[in-house]
Amino acid sequence: MVEVRVPATSANMGAGFDCLGIALSLYNYFYVEEYDGTLDIQGCDEAHKNENNLVYTSIQRCFEKIGYKAKNKGLRIKIKSDIPSSRGLGSSAACIVGGIMCANEIAGSRLSINELVKLASEIEGHPDNTTPALLGGMTVAISHGARIYYEKVNIPSDLKFCSISPDFTLPTKKARSILPEQIPFKDAVFNVSRASLLVAAMASGNHELIKIACEDRLHQPYRAAHIPDYNEVIKEALGLNCLGAFLSGAGPTILVILKKEDRYFTENLSCFLSKLENKWDIRELEPDFEGAQIINKG
Ligand code: HSE
Repeated sequence: MVEVRVPATSANMGAGFDCLGIALSLYNYFYVEEYDGTLDIQGCDEAHKNENNLVYTSIQRCFEKIGYKAKNKGLRIKIKSDIPSSRGLGSSAACIVGGIMCANEIAGSRLSINELVKLASEIEGHPDNTTPALLGGMTVAISHGARIYYEKVNIPSDLKFCSISPDFTLPTKKARSILPEQIPFKDAVFNVSRASLLVAAMASGNHELIKIACEDRLHQPYRAAHIPDYNEVIKEALGLNCLGAFLSGAGPTILVILKKEDRYFTENLSCFLSKLENKWDIRELEPDFEGAQIINKG
């Protein structure tokens, strides 16, 4: 079986809605093989064991793009997930990237990394999760016409991250439907300036700039209204001297940026979270610099 490992991702870093993302050290594993049978999907809910499964549809999209005719009728897909689903940590992007990486390998590695970046973004609808999932590290990725323009951003080696995920979900479809169609000009300026500042702060390693650069007016205020205790958790995190905090992807996970040497933040915030009505899972993560990896060529 072809085996691919794909990292979790946090998109919309700070003010970088739909364009900034980072890969993190939490992984899903995808195992795919052709066989003489039917469609066999293991490792997910019964509701997803069918032809609408995102890993399966992504495999098919990749086969179609390459023009690959399967040798056998059936496909066996196994999924091992550590990335929580519908929490804003790129679980859908991982399914897409896992599917197309396995399919590309089965079909003889015909697509280049640029073509995989483009295909993954087409399937997902935006490139901010899929690009770091494929490439690793922090990426800026934008869709323009038929192309995805992207670049990696060097991030300081003295950073770590902390994901804070509640026990409820906020599906991306709903989280996009609650966004406004238009925003005031001053909010656009607010976001352009902070997104630019975050990239500059990461590239230069100036920690002092990160906190203000994580503020956003395009999506966080609208989505926060649907996440119980969001503002309280952000306020507490900032009070505990993290470097910055923002809504991860479409939420409801909050991602916190920390100095690697910070040994107290996670324990102190856990204490605060334990008093809240919902259960929040907190975990420290490293940046993943490798992106999706073929572990076994089958
Ligand atoms: N940029 C996307 C959004 C990420 O916020 O809707 C989630 O898929």
